[in-house]
Amino acid sequence: MSRADSPPTPPGLPLVGNGWAFSRRPVDAMESWADHGDLVELRFPGQSLYMVSGPDLVEQILVDQHDRFTIGPRQQATFEGIEDHAVTTATGDRWKRLRRALHPAFTPDRLQQYGDRMTAVTARFVDDWAEGDRLDLTAAMRALAVQLLADSLVGADLRGEEDVVIAAADALVARTNFRRPGQLLPDWVPTPTDRRFRRSVTELDELVDGLLADREAGAGEDVLSVLLEAHERGDLSMAEVRHNLVGLLLAGHESPSNALASAWRLLSDHGDVLDELVAEYDAVVDGDRPTAAEFEALTRTRNVVRETLRLYPPTTGVNRMATTDVTLDGYTLSAGSQLFVPQWVLHRDERFWTDPERFDPDRWARDTTRPDHAYIPFSAGPRACIGADFARRELTLALATMVGRVALDVEVDGPLTFTPSLSLRPEQDITATVHRR
Ligand code: HEM
Repeated sequence: MSRADSPPTPPGLPLVGNGWAFSRRPVDAMESWADHGDLVELRFPGQSLYMVSGPDLVEQILVDQHDRFTIGPRQQATFEGIEDHAVTTATGDRWKRLRRALHPAFTPDRLQQYGDRMTAVTARFVDDWAEGDRLDLTAAMRALAVQLLADSLVGADLRGEEDVVIAAADALVARTNFRRPGQLLPDWVPTPTDRRFRRSVTELDELVDGLLADREAGAGEDVLSVLLEAHERGDLSMAEVRHNLVGLLLAGHESPSNALASAWRLLSDHGDVLDELVAEYDAVVDGDRPTAAEFEALTRTRNVVRETLRLYPPTTGVNRMATTDVTLDGYTLSAGSQLFVPQWVLHRDERFWTDPERFDPDRWARDTTRPDHAYIPFSAGPRACIGADFARRELTLALATMVGRVALDVEVDGPLTFTPSLSLRPEQDITATVHRR
């Protein structure tokens, strides 16, 4: 039965509504909104947005009734001019076709092949560090994530060109930053953020042109070869090949780099857990770096990855728009309603997690009784992250390879806060001192 009234709205400020709190401290704001209920209505300048933070409601939206929701215009606007023909922005039958075309690039066999190269790339990266080196941890993990991805995606060595990819991701994050000065201007006024965005897109386009040149369908065993084969069969246009490549380059490095940096922050604070990972490495790894086949046996490392993604989910939330009127939690939301599912809130909810703020990788070996959708770093349902298995494998193998070679002593410059954008990026400078094993 549906109720006539609307969900509760947490208090906000005149004009800017709930936007101000989010732009100041996004995770604190999301946590305080959830105190008002599993479904709340938020007011932002010019629009309202429903935040959904109960696992059963999340399951309804992302899984059971997924066909009554799609991605919203905000997600399409974010990627406009760069991923218009990619799976990330497509809806309906077009999205199904693009998703089907990408699928063969992420089968278990393919992931197994990428796995061995992931550890080789990580070993090469870490072997450049000397005892006592001081690293910008965020920058280092981003460069590593781009190199890891480039190898599996296009079989290329992008050393020295990581910044082109990183600058485009920065421009996307800036576009969605709630604090950006242009946020309240009409779309046609070019802001510095827009100009930076266009410049970085041009450079990324040139890089992608180079990657596409001289490639033939069937050549290589990377993601690009799958895209080109789909083009040969007539399943993908060349614009779709190009935009999906760009989409994968961006979606595929931002979150993994964020997760690797979080894992090192946590391990640096929890020496006992790092010691366990080193012991696991010594017990499991035969050669001078892990092999893809050893992935399954790296149980503790896999649990550290899981726990890192619980405490520090790299994305701020999953966005959806209702395509019909829907009833949620007894309230009727009209077609066109915008919804948002914040992983941070679900992952730290005391109803489902014992001692939720504690970094406790062993919880994954102990208690498993919790609702399925209390943990969704990669979202859920048919539209969940296509790179989820790739990322789990990459993060585990890269972390194990690093742990086998170095320990990092991490210092965060001040209490951790996050950028109010599509990605939960720490705002502080984070330095790491290298100790070689
Ligand atoms: C820690 C790593 C990662 C996290 C936490 C993550 C998280 C997510 C989330 C939350 C979504 C939104 C899903 C939805 O709307 O329901 C998504 C979508 C996507 N991700 Fe990931 N991701 C990660 C790594 C990757 C990697 C490595 C790749 C590619 C190699 C990738 C490619 C994509 C693509 C293409 C989409 C759009 C899928 C679609 O709309 O059908 N991601 N990811």
